[in-house]
Amino acid sequence: MKILALSGSLRECSYNTAALKALGELSPDDVIVEIGEIKALPLFNPDLDEAQIPALQRLKAQLTQASGLIIASPEYAHGISGPMKNALDWLVSGVEFPYKPIMLINTSPRASHGLAALREVLTTMSGVIIDSAFVSIPLLSSELDKEGILENPELSGMLKAGLEAFFCQIKRSGESAL
Ligand SMILES: Cc1cc2nc3c(=O)[nH]c(=O)nc-3n(C[C@H](O)[C@H](O)[C@H](O)COP(=O)(O)O)c2cc1C
Repeated sequence: MKILALSGSLRECSYNTAALKALGELSPDDVIVEIGEIKALPLFNPDLDEAQIPALQRLKAQLTQASGLIIASPEYAHGISGPMKNALDWLVSGVEFPYKPIMLINTSPRASHGLAALREVLTTMSGVIIDSAFVSIPLLSSELDKEGILENPELSGMLKAGLEAFFCQIKRSGESAL
């Protein structure tokens, strides 16, 4: 099983990206968590020819192959991070996104507005947010990187539990579709 993971932060030492990297290590051997790139996407402009945007073609191909999507994105000024909203705008009219199971990770439990806005956008795009897989972990100001998260039993345990709930739901929906 392949899972696509997207971070809404472009920061080198991003907590959101670190959480996704940790998830990659915590996932079972038969699951590949691939971290996608959104920073090379141009600013959304429907006038542009999508076929001429390699970063978008790559992202769409990864999404097509993925059984699920994991999103970890920071809140900026009570809203969705610009890079994440830009990526979602590029995906909004495609066939790749609708009905994709989505796991959300919040690395700053105080940030509720951005998360609520993200949920609204994802649901509008016909994404299927798996609530039982939602993980909120307090990484803000922790100085933790991927290794630090993995070494912390409470944080890695929460991420692992979220992943298990996510995979379980993906498998269940796959079986009911048969
Ligand atoms: C310009 C700016 C605006 C921010 N606005 C908020 C905010 O409205 N609410 C909040 O909880 N955190 C806010 N933050 C804090 C970020 O969400 C926080 O630094 C987060 O860790 C960034 O994610 P990253 O570590 O993955 O880069 C803001 C940070 C910046 C730089």
